[in-house]
Amino acid sequence: MRLKSMLCSVIVVALAGANVPAWAATDPLAPTGRWTASIRGSAATPPMGWNPYNAFSMDISEDKIMGNAQALVDTGLSKLGYVYVNIDDGWWSGRSQTDQQVQVNTRLFPSAAPAGSGPTSFKPFVTRIHQMGLKAGIYSDIGRNTCSQAYNLTTPNLPRGTQAEREVGLYGHVDGDIRTYFKEWGFDYIKIDACGIADYGADRDHVKALGYRPFPPIMFRNQPALSQDGDVRALYAEVGAALAKYKPDNQYVFSICSWGKADVRKWGKDVGNLWRTSDDLYPRWSRMLQSYDSAVTRALYSHPGAWNDPDILYIGAGDFDQNHLLEARSHFSLWTMLDAPLIIGYDLRTADKAMLDIFSNADVIAIDQDRAGNQAVLAYRSGDVDILVKTLSDGRKAVALFNRGLQPFDATLTASQLKFDAAAPVKLTDVWSKESPSPFVGQATFKLAPRETRLFVAQGTRELPGGLYLSEMTGRINVAEDGVTQAEADPQIQRTGWGSTKGDGEWPSYPGWGGAQADASPYSTELSMGPQSFATGIGILSNSRMEVRANGEFRRFLAEVGVDNATRNRMGTVRFFVYGDGRLLAKSDPVSFGQPHVDLSADVTGVTMVELVARADAAASSPIAVDWGRAALLH
Ligand code: GLA
Repeated sequence: MRLKSMLCSVIVVALAGANVPAWAATDPLAPTGRWTASIRGSAATPPMGWNPYNAFSMDISEDKIMGNAQALVDTGLSKLGYVYVNIDDGWWSGRSQTDQQVQVNTRLFPSAAPAGSGPTSFKPFVTRIHQMGLKAGIYSDIGRNTCSQAYNLTTPNLPRGTQAEREVGLYGHVDGDIRTYFKEWGFDYIKIDACGIADYGADRDHVKALGYRPFPPIMFRNQPALSQDGDVRALYAEVGAALAKYKPDNQYVFSICSWGKADVRKWGKDVGNLWRTSDDLYPRWSRMLQSYDSAVTRALYSHPGAWNDPDILYIGAGDFDQNHLLEARSHFSLWTMLDAPLIIGYDLRTADKAMLDIFSNADVIAIDQDRAGNQAVLAYRSGDVDILVKTLSDGRKAVALFNRGLQPFDATLTASQLKFDAAAPVKLTDVWSKESPSPFVGQATFKLAPRETRLFVAQGTRELPGGLYLSEMTGRINVAEDGVTQAEADPQIQRTGWGSTKGDGEWPSYPGWGGAQADASPYSTELSMGPQSFATGIGILSNSRMEVRANGEFRRFLAEVGVDNATRNRMGTVRFFVYGDGRLLAKSDPVSFGQPHVDLSADVTGVTMVELVARADAAASSPIAVDWGRAALLH
């Protein structure tokens, strides 16, 4: 009876022609009718290439980098998409106090030496890279000083000179440096680190001993509550503006390297093309799990042009070397399912066939590079096994069965985990072995060795005929407002340290807890409203707004909405609104904790941008977890 009255209370309105109200200008939940995430830069699919850091740390040279560039071409990897040859930390000798330009270390990069007197230049280096059909990437820091100046004090490749000469980072020099790197030298890609704003407090030993100018930290590695997220974002946004100014052709990639700190996992998509979601990877299985975990629940924050970056691949070393090919394949499979940038961190000049076979598996790469840009969503997670499903642009699914642990496991994959009809046959192709087992109906079981990932492409009959669930089109969604009012560290991430057990280990430190999730509540629980659970939908907090690119392809939006049982605030009420190109199409009455879901339906014929708003009543004292259950767009 109660359910019936709730359903009857749903108001479906068709207000074609209504104007965006006046309060829209100041209200972050007001519809904009457009895509508000950054569309700058050139990263329609995750960037692919090579970076020297994992193989050489600071021990870089022009020979090593050019040798690897040549190897990308000679091995055929560049044809498969690995085109960025990036320089990392260590390329500089100092900042000239005459013209304020950063000088290239010509002992390491002889081609940068000037013919006579004058500034050094990377232009000859970049030109050679371009002549090889490749693209070139440069590296800097958002502060005054760099990571190596704080953490790699024994290398001979640190900048030298006075305090000011050793300030090679971007702080105070954004316009001039970006102009030099992109307009004069011709780079195509920049990675911008963040040690300069995190590790140069006046109390730090290296600052005192080496006479660096103190920089009161605005980003705190292990204290997310103290980071000044807005200020960090503003510094990176200043770089974004300079890139737009000096690269009006938009042909560049902007890589933010703030290691998941300062809430970058939320705002990276509004500023850059990729952003690190975790601290540095090192070649240990447990550390790979940390990087993977830092991105795996963030599918809704990634989309074409903007990618979660769990770090450079460590395939070729440690737990992912020639003696651990199963682990190396797992690492690669998982990165492709996360739509991660595929940046090789291995010395390709000495690569053996087994390693090259991994990097050059075109079927695996195709999953990463699928143009829909739908990051995989967790379909199952318990104990040591994760099942990830990624919807491809042609309607097929990529599916990974991942055993994190050290025991073999019989993993059962169901058609409904793929959002396929349980009564129709499902055909799988193993993208590593190329085998196709006989089609299954309903479910099939696969043996997983310890640490193995089985990676398949699946074809079947869609469970939802004539449409897509929103969680199958994460690449079309921008979480413009996720309702998180205070950044909290995500507790769901594998904790590892740097090898020493002194101190108390690594505490949760990547903000983003409570963020929007596909097929889960914002607190990583099953979607549930009142007595009912939902296998699919979007979980998000109240006072949120999502933009969904419908592109005029759909006729109707459907969802079952309400307050999720995982909500911390059980007191307030929430109303749900559906907009199409800025016009209100449907809304719900206020709903509260414990009530069954209510149905929403909106005619979206011809609509380019659907916006989904969940608004708490003014008296709600804290965010309310809400669900857009079974949210779908139908053709
Ligand atoms: C930081 C970054 C790494 C690498 C080093 C270089 O640790 O996260 O990816 O660039 O600095 O010093």
